[in-house]
Amino acid sequence: MKDIKTEIARIIAEQAGLAEEEALALIEIPPESSKGDYAFPCFRLAKVLRKAPPLIAADIAEKIRGNALFEKVENVNAYVNMFIDKAYFAMNTLEDVVARGDLFGRQDIGGGKTVIVEYSSPNIAKPFHIGHIRSTVIGNAIYKLYDAIGYKVVRINHLGDYGTQFGKMITAYRRWGNEEEVKKEPIKTLLSYYVRFHQEAENDPSLDQEARETFAKLEHGEEEEVRIWKWFREESLKEFTRVYDMLGITFDSYNGESFYSDKMPAVIQELRDKGLLQESQGAQIVDLSQWNMSPALITKSDGTSLYITRDIAAAIYRKKTYDFYKCIYVVASQQNLHFQQWFKVLDLMGYEWSKDCIHVNFGLVSLEDGTMSTRNGRVVFLEDVLNRAVEKTAEIVREKGVNTESIEETSKTVGIGAVIFQELSNSRIKDYVFNWDNVLNFDGETGPYVQYTHARAASVLKNAGFSGSFDVASMDLSYISGGSAYELIKEIYRFPEVIADAAEKYEPSVLTRHIVDIAQAFNKFYHDEHILVENEQEKQAKLLLTYAAKQTIKNGLELLGMKAPDKM
Ligand code: ARG
Repeated sequence: MKDIKTEIARIIAEQAGLAEEEALALIEIPPESSKGDYAFPCFRLAKVLRKAPPLIAADIAEKIRGNALFEKVENVNAYVNMFIDKAYFAMNTLEDVVARGDLFGRQDIGGGKTVIVEYSSPNIAKPFHIGHIRSTVIGNAIYKLYDAIGYKVVRINHLGDYGTQFGKMITAYRRWGNEEEVKKEPIKTLLSYYVRFHQEAENDPSLDQEARETFAKLEHGEEEEVRIWKWFREESLKEFTRVYDMLGITFDSYNGESFYSDKMPAVIQELRDKGLLQESQGAQIVDLSQWNMSPALITKSDGTSLYITRDIAAAIYRKKTYDFYKCIYVVASQQNLHFQQWFKVLDLMGYEWSKDCIHVNFGLVSLEDGTMSTRNGRVVFLEDVLNRAVEKTAEIVREKGVNTESIEETSKTVGIGAVIFQELSNSRIKDYVFNWDNVLNFDGETGPYVQYTHARAASVLKNAGFSGSFDVASMDLSYISGGSAYELIKEIYRFPEVIADAAEKYEPSVLTRHIVDIAQAFNKFYHDEHILVENEQEKQAKLLLTYAAKQTIKNGLELLGMKAPDKM
């Protein structure tokens, strides 16, 4: 697909004796469509050409008018106003959709450079709760977006599989635990031990002491502690994997915090050598007061390492291992300070690439009946939410008498898709309240609505006995060069640039909103026009557009991590 703006820049540059780049920077999109699809202001050229801007505009308009790209070129004062030939525009866009199919929208901006996307990263032996859905789903979409614009992406699940809480967990397990019970329902059981630990530790401070010692043993590699910890990790991963399977999400690496335990002494030594460490009440810190931040706590007084130390070690390891162009961390905004602190520490260590570490943060999700916390055990498991979404969808699907071969399959695709879509609908930084009616509303700006639109387009093609291919170049696209058909083509044309924009902003919602726009534009076209008309040429043109809309929606949903069912 030719980029129209670049094409115009090329034509104008040739005629006005400008560099293409310069011309490109000057082209505007007029605020009113009566002034054309694109406009070129000539003020800047006046000096160079020693001519009044309106004369230059008249001159350029005259020269480019004959190009097939334009339906009409006008000069109004200092402006050249250009109206794109609609059949040309339709041809340019739809030919590309047909030629590229599932690849439509993909582009090579990244040139194969490596980007790390770290996301999901739940904590072992703790619930994979609804709060984690955001990092998981947003991170997966960011991975797919970067993959689509030509980067090589490494997906890392930085599991929270290390730290003092494991001292507590092991202590609790030894005191009150039971192996069989854990095996049956690992996370819920381990969580109950953890909750009990906190309750009992309020009256019994020796518990905390024991937990600290246990963690120190784990960190020093004591066999028994390591064995229990490994087992907790495996059991937890099994549960997490169930959820990842439901969401269709995979990772290239599960190297979590524990992976860096043996890499930390070298990092601590490096911090010391670079004169960054200070002692404070037995602990080792990096003072960040100059940057108005609390100190970064590198080791505790008992010598054990901390979350932040592991993040520093992980970043250095990743730079060495992957030589990343960017390392993207999809983590809640509650951790803003944490990230600012350790990015600063990397900077102070002299790593200029610390600027390539990017914290992609997001707001809180809560349920209508309040938020959740691990300590008091009132949590909502993500798996339960997904299962509920599937059940509720099955009810709706049955009620509606939806056209499908398998209600079970459709309910999964639509129910889970609905949760993903909802998650990616709002700007990520916004807090939001999870509400079932919004998520599953088939008529709102929702996943089910978009999937339903896709299925509708599929059924139009099926009813027309669509053969699976179009010879676009030989088709007459004047039938779809106006009204709502043309509005739909404009949305489809924008798809690749929306993908690039969403990736650059780390903001999947930019794409989500665009998919809704395409779906709405298709539905308007569907209502305004008869598609299966007598006139064969006209019918083919309209089917082509139906096909392109369907393909674009499908590709968009795929980038969000969703499926596009043909029947619904
Ligand atoms: N495990 C942490 C949590 O659940 C998130 C980890 C975020 N990633 C990082 N590199 N610190 O809150």
